[in-house]
Amino acid sequence: MNTTDAPNEEIKGLKMDGAGFISHEEKHYSDEENAIWKLLCERRMEKLPTTASSAYLEGLEKLKMPMDRIPLFDELNANLEPLTGWTLRAVNGFIPAKMFFGSMALRQFPSTLEIRPMGRLEYLQEPDIFHDVFGHVPMHTDSLFADFVAEYGKLVTEYEVGSERFDAMARLWWYTVEFGLIRENDEVRLYGSGHMSSFGEADNVFLGGPEIRDFNLDEVISTPFRIDIYQPVLWVIDGFEQLRLAVDELRRRWDVSN
Ligand SMILES: [Fe+2]
Repeated sequence: MNTTDAPNEEIKGLKMDGAGFISHEEKHYSDEENAIWKLLCERRMEKLPTTASSAYLEGLEKLKMPMDRIPLFDELNANLEPLTGWTLRAVNGFIPAKMFFGSMALRQFPSTLEIRPMGRLEYLQEPDIFHDVFGHVPMHTDSLFADFVAEYGKLVTEYEVGSERFDAMARLWWYTVEFGLIRENDEVRLYGSGHMSSFGEADNVFLGGPEIRDFNLDEVISTPFRIDIYQPVLWVIDGFEQLRLAVDELRRRWDVSN
């Protein structure tokens, strides 16, 4: 982490130690919950080595992501924080959008502690720990991606939820962090958490399901999304520096200083 980017512990009057954050260490998982995590990992790892981006796969290694039980946040943070300054923080279910995105500016990734039930292993609309931790966190070991998300968090907290600019930022998040694609060695690979933590939608990418376009910031921020269908259009980047440049471009366009 670049210390000149050290986040302020308070953003726009939003204290990040308030409601919503909880202790992870008090959470104890049942054998069944750990078995669900193991099953989800086994099923995803059948496909991810040949479909996920190298940054994501290397992230799993760097984190020493446990595949046979739900990880403790402390053990992941011990591997994550020295790399990019990011840490995982436990939250109690949904937290307000402003708090969720604001925590990104502090390089704190909020994650729920609950895991999906055995009967619903497919992608869920609501987040669970498999989506948040297995889906999102490996990418935060990549310095370019980690810097992008922190810069994204700083910019998005400039805007009120429901404003046009907030909506534009939400679309940028959706089509990159959640469902972004990257081209590696002329092949399309996944890096979005929505794909990492799902089965059918990730497979659908390689079955010709979505239209795949080269990343275009104006298209992305003007394309509404739905969370209840497979994404009909996805955008592919050539490198993660494109994402940071996209945030810089919006900052310049909207005349927001660093
Ligand atoms: Fe997500």
